[in-house]
Amino acid sequence: MASNAGRDIVRTTLYQKDLRRILENSGGNAVFRIGPGTVGIQDGALARAVLEARELHDFERTIFKPVRGQAMSAGNTAAILRAAAQDVRRAIDELPNDARAYAGDWPARGYEILHRAMFGRDGWMLRGLSSRVLDASVWAQRLALGAAERWPAPCAQGESALAQQVLRGMPRGAERSVALVLYRRTASALCETVSKAVANTFWLSSKAQRESRPRQTVAESLRLLPPAWMLLRSADPAFARLDEGIGGRDDLLVFPLLIHRNATWDSPEEFAPARWDALGEPDTLANYLPFGHGRDRCHARSLVLSMTQALLARVVTQDLDVSPRQKSARVRFAPLLAVAHVELTHA
Ligand code: HEM
Repeated sequence: MASNAGRDIVRTTLYQKDLRRILENSGGNAVFRIGPGTVGIQDGALARAVLEARELHDFERTIFKPVRGQAMSAGNTAAILRAAAQDVRRAIDELPNDARAYAGDWPARGYEILHRAMFGRDGWMLRGLSSRVLDASVWAQRLALGAAERWPAPCAQGESALAQQVLRGMPRGAERSVALVLYRRTASALCETVSKAVANTFWLSSKAQRESRPRQTVAESLRLLPPAWMLLRSADPAFARLDEGIGGRDDLLVFPLLIHRNATWDSPEEFAPARWDALGEPDTLANYLPFGHGRDRCHARSLVLSMTQALLARVVTQDLDVSPRQKSARVRFAPLLAVAHVELTHA
């Protein structure tokens, strides 16, 4: 499906065919059947009720799912995110001030910039462990983890708060291997999600929108291309009590992708940051949940938003824009929804 980016620019977003099927064939009902044991949810109020009905099971978590069978404690997650917030604050101050650093293929370029700014002072073994090159291969990840486990490097000068938090006092053994997994997951999640959010925002918006309404432009980009586009919940009797369309054995797929363009939105396919002038605080809207809802709402929401706004602002001041030659971009069916390639060049 082709979707128009904004009023003053014409760019075509090409959704992969399974995404297209979801966008085009979900009907108008709050609950729609996807298969014998699975239903989808596309109504904001019902989605919120589902997300409130019970806490996530550990196996349903994404970044902080159990490592080697060990679930994460809430305290450990909070301590890791506090450390990550320090790295984000430092990185915001140290983002490069040179247009050449930002020009090129996004989100890949954004990942590299964030990785260097947040984790560039960590030892080479850790930098390798969180590099995006490893995303392509589970084997390469295992090799890198094995190497970092076997040959622990001494602390590097000025290393990240994240490295200090997860790896301090863990020279060897099983605990170190768990810590290394946590380091990789957290570092790569920060770089990946923020670079994708910024790439999506550039793709969808015009220069004027980014300059005049930066906050609303990000909110609108998270509406039309929510990176966390589908939330999974395994069957639970509590869900069946919420709507007669949900059976006791049905797994649920909650779709921010659909909720963000359902009938409650005015011209839902239009990219219009100005709509937020009247809508007010995004978090108060039933049909807007890019960061989820309830107890398991994204714990990194505010640091992710700060980093996204800061990176976007920095690129905007470098006077870069989507290459006028690029008329279309693909969005793959993947756990994080994002345009695959956006070429940024001098405006
Ligand atoms: C654009 C960036 C991000 C978006 C849009 C996002 C979105 C979300 C959403 C929708 C949920 C709710 C999941 C559910 O209910 O099933 C969630 C939960 C969560 N997010 Fe994020 N997230 C982002 C980045 C991050 C990053 C970088 C981290 C950590 C480094 C993080 C940590 C968490 C945690 C700890 C939870 C609670 C559930 C769990 O433990 O898996 N998020 N996020």
